Amino acid sequence: MSGMALRLRHLILLLPLFGAGGAAAGPDNYVDIARGKALTIAGDCVACHTAPRGQPFAGGLALQTPFGEIMAPNITADNTTGIGSWSADDFARAMQEGRRPDGSHLYPAFPYPYYTKVERGDLDAIYAYLRTLQPVENRVDRDTLPFPFNVRLLMKGWNALFFTSGAFKPDPARSAEFNRGAYLAEGLGHCGACHTPFNAFGASRNDKYLEGNQIDNWTAPNITDDPRVGLGKWSVEDIVQYLKTGQNGFSLASGPMKDVVENSTSKMPTSDLKAIAVYLKQRGAASAPTSTPLAAANPRMQAGEAIYVDTCAACHVRNGEGVAHLFPKLAGSAVAIQQDPATLIRIIIAGGRAAATDGFPTSPAMPSLGYRLTDSQVAAVVTYVRNSWGNAAAPVTEETVKARRARITGAAAGD
Ligand code: HEC
Ligand code: HEC
Ligand code: HEC
Repeated sequence: MSGMALRLRHLILLLPLFGAGGAAAGPDNYVDIARGKALTIAGDCVACHTAPRGQPFAGGLALQTPFGEIMAPNITADNTTGIGSWSADDFARAMQEGRRPDGSHLYPAFPYPYYTKVERGDLDAIYAYLRTLQPVENRVDRDTLPFPFNVRLLMKGWNALFFTSGAFKPDPARSAEFNRGAYLAEGLGHCGACHTPFNAFGASRNDKYLEGNQIDNWTAPNITDDPRVGLGKWSVEDIVQYLKTGQNGFSLASGPMKDVVENSTSKMPTSDLKAIAVYLKQRGAASAPTSTPLAAANPRMQAGEAIYVDTCAACHVRNGEGVAHLFPKLAGSAVAIQQDPATLIRIIIAGGRAAATDGFPTSPAMPSLGYRLTDSQVAAVVTYVRNSWGNAAAPVTEETVKARRARITGAAAGD
């Protein structure tokens, strides 16, 4: 409620500010700015361009990549430390081609390989909205990558190999709703930036689009329509509910997806979420290798079962069914059986908190259990969860847990 009041006041204040910027503040501009704001939300720009406890859009968040740390810059309209001096053309070139006004290359930690699909009219609306925000003076050190990755010219070769510029082209054989969903998911929503595996050069693999990837010690699962590892069991309404409220009868959004839901999808119009859901359901399924479940009599399963009953069943229930909207279901859970067990290990060791949204303000939390379970105990319970109640996935070893625990605790956990 107070959030709504704040947002409305904000919009009204925008008008004079925008007028002062030189453009006529007529009703059309008002619409543009409201539309620009909605598109900025769909693009989740604030997630990367805001430092912890920093001003929104003023930059300073360090993004970890396999090549080193990349700083997200200030994109407020400050003239010296932000993009105040950029024209609409400069802005569109950055978004569509990954180039700064001086021609230098931006790194794809900035998801321009996705934003390139956004139409110019939508980019102009985002530009107009960003210019209505209070300019913030905040200088961000841009040269943080080690040699040779600090040579921005290298990106020229990367672009030649892995980047296709150009706006989204609707598929005339598909419905308008599917195409709207594709435009949003493949463009501003940049779902593939997290859900698609990377190649060795940090480029999304188009042949594995949305088949799952690892990000910040979490697994961003397969979100194709596969019934086992993907969203095949979810209806369009289930997907909309998850994106709108951060939870449904199958799962709760935590980790990086919690941020996506809280900043972006929960604030998007339901019609757009439905379009994304239709797109995800209709574009096809891509499975992962199947495995045979370990026998219940296997000693690792027995060790895992004992830990599960002792440590997990109070919330997730003995039969893995969980409690709808509160404790996620582990039986039949796609998250539990992804090839990559990163989320399972991480959530047991460091805990997690589900998204809090207007539609679902509860934000249930899972306690961190890393302090009371050894690596071999975590491996056993993870193996048990992956091979019980109809689930089947490769067992997890103590060594895998050990390596991952070091990365999780090294990365100063939190969520
Ligand atoms: C996943 C993180 C991420 C998201 C989401 C993101 N950005 Fe960025 N952005 C970056 C990073 C990192 C850079 C700097 C890349 C570099 O230095 O080469 C950047 C650079 C930019 C630049 C160039 C600024 C400059 O001074 O060079 C602009 C403009 C920009 N982003 C706008 C946006 C807008 C608008 C959105 C939302 C539609 C957005 N970004 C979403 C990470 C992100
Ligand atoms: C910043 C990275 C990131 C981005 C961007 C992102 N996701 Fe996710 N997504 C994740 C992670 C990580 C999870 C797993 C969350 C968990 O285990 O609670 C996830 C989970 C999901 C799930 C639940 C899958 C399941 O089986 O439980 C859906 C559906 C989903 N994302 C859809 C989307 C869509 C649609 C987009 C684009 C609009 C998107 N995601 C963008 C990281 C991301
Ligand atoms: C006090 C209750 C509680 C206990 C005990 C607990 N969990 Fe959880 N668990 C939760 C809640 C709440 C969530 C949702 C929050 C989140 O995803 O961050 C969750 C999330 C999960 C998820 C992610 C599911 C998804 O769909 O994203 C897995 C996997 C999981 N728990 C496994 C376990 C295992 C294995 C144990 C025992 C070692 C355990 N949990 C103990 C409450 C609990």
